[in-house]
Amino acid sequence: MCGIVACIIKDKAAPVLLDCVQRLEYRGYDSVGIATLSGDIYIKKNEGKIDDVQKKLDLTDIPGNMGIAHVRWATHGLPTGKNAHPHTDCKKRIAVVHNGIIENYNELKTILQNEGHIFTSDTDTEVIPHLIEKYMEMGNGLEVASRLATKDIQGSYAIAAISADEPNKIIGIRKESPLIVGIGENEFFLASDVPAILEHTKNVIYLDDNEMAVLDLDGVVIKDIDGNVLDKEINIIEWTADMAEKGGYNHFMLKEIHEQPEVIRNTLMEYPEIENVVSTFPEFNRICFVACGTSYHASLVGKYLFETMLGIPTDVVLASEFIFSEGALNAKTLVILISQSGETADTLRALKIANTKSETLAIVNVLGSTATREADHVIYTRAGPEIGVAATKTYVSQLTCIYMLAIAMDGNNNLLEKLQKVPGFMKNALAREDHIIQIAKKYKNSTDFFFFGRGFSYPTALEGALKLKEITYIHAEGYAAGELKHGPLALIDDDVPVLAVVPPGDRHDKTLSNVEEVKARGASIIGVGSSEDAALRLESDDIIGMDNDISEILSPIPYVVPLQLLSYYISIERGIDPDKPKNLAKCVTVE
Ligand code: G6P
Repeated sequence: MCGIVACIIKDKAAPVLLDCVQRLEYRGYDSVGIATLSGDIYIKKNEGKIDDVQKKLDLTDIPGNMGIAHVRWATHGLPTGKNAHPHTDCKKRIAVVHNGIIENYNELKTILQNEGHIFTSDTDTEVIPHLIEKYMEMGNGLEVASRLATKDIQGSYAIAAISADEPNKIIGIRKESPLIVGIGENEFFLASDVPAILEHTKNVIYLDDNEMAVLDLDGVVIKDIDGNVLDKEINIIEWTADMAEKGGYNHFMLKEIHEQPEVIRNTLMEYPEIENVVSTFPEFNRICFVACGTSYHASLVGKYLFETMLGIPTDVVLASEFIFSEGALNAKTLVILISQSGETADTLRALKIANTKSETLAIVNVLGSTATREADHVIYTRAGPEIGVAATKTYVSQLTCIYMLAIAMDGNNNLLEKLQKVPGFMKNALAREDHIIQIAKKYKNSTDFFFFGRGFSYPTALEGALKLKEITYIHAEGYAAGELKHGPLALIDDDVPVLAVVPPGDRHDKTLSNVEEVKARGASIIGVGSSEDAALRLESDDIIGMDNDISEILSPIPYVVPLQLLSYYISIERGIDPDKPKNLAKCVTVE
């Protein structure tokens, strides 16, 4: 949800800024802009995806060894050239990029306009350079003026600011939006996320709320918002630049789908760490999962698992609705927050609430992200950087962590052994790719899709429907199979494909009856079940066969693979870029 970068380096900055901002394109891509400083401020920006804007404008053709850059996911103001960042003050001596939302921008804008400031965009961000201008005109330097500006602002922000009146200095400030500082050899960076700067450095400082970084060619100083110098830890990032490349695949999403068997293997190595975490737990009588999007679907599997395996009452709450659950929290509740990014605004808000009343555990992919610093306990999903907007490999690694957590709490080593076989099952599912491409071609023009499953397959159905919506723009609904006759059956006719998730196990026969019900109403059935399931094969127009040995309880991990591939290939057939679905961002840092 908007990505920002800044650098001060030995060579020309614009090409480096472009490269870094391209690596943040998963955060937003409706417009892009770069500002550099070389005596004056030079700006190139426009609406559109980075490659298209680069072809038209050559964003690298501006001088200077320092600058700031931005990819935008519009909140205030249409995605137009004039609303693209960087934004400047009246005299174009100050330039700012911003991720977040300034909630009181209307009020600030009116005050600034009454004081004579001229605005040129419809964004909330533009108040920031004008505020900095106002405070610099009062005799303050860029650093103090930026600090004073943020004291006027209500809302969330990660900001990078430069001023032509103070060359060789970049200011970064954060509150409730991610911002990291990269420390290279005589070159220094700010970025919304680690993959942006991996090519240049693996030494990173994570800024906390109300902290600022002052970058110049000699180094970085971190201060609090009152100007006191802070001593912050430098973290060494294990991810490599290659991990954030496409590696021969056409899209990040396809690469990330194919990485999944390895991701599960890496995540399984976290088991001893998870046992450590569990050993510090007090006794709980309730578990409450909190998450958004795909992470919410992983949490639903958690509910089925914790209730069936551990018998602990378990709820799953959407992070944006969590405030309504506050009253039911107490010290005997374990709140588990699931988040790929660890930066989703709704999830962080929920974490703040939960921290006041309950024990909190965050299951997160991004090292050092806000959730990992604020929760009582942390478990990392070892998925590596995920660039495709639609979550794939992080979903299966979240699931793996949830299974390991339940196993560690229950001591069921039998299930741990079975988990080791899951990467092999996934490999076999990936081998069905060509067949899935044929199914994608057949259903690419559908306007509606239904997914259903029971028990552990219900979250799989929801996740399959979400993937399809996200990257193909086809209307899709995921249902618990038993709910079909309570409404959706009225929508089933000859035109509607129904994907039924029917692994072998206790729920198999009942789900098969639901398949028969929709088939009787003319639906086309795509059955996903055991390759040895003759009954499902008989009912299905198309079948995606999975290994017969996959138990129902573990099916959510391998069974999601064909659903991800189906969405990916339908997206390709429809001419959509699955890595950058319209209107969506990888990390939603606004509520
Ligand atoms: C966005 C992403 C989804 C993701 C959701 C939650 O909507 O596009 O892929 O599932 O946010 O993100 P989180 O980082 O908290 O898991």
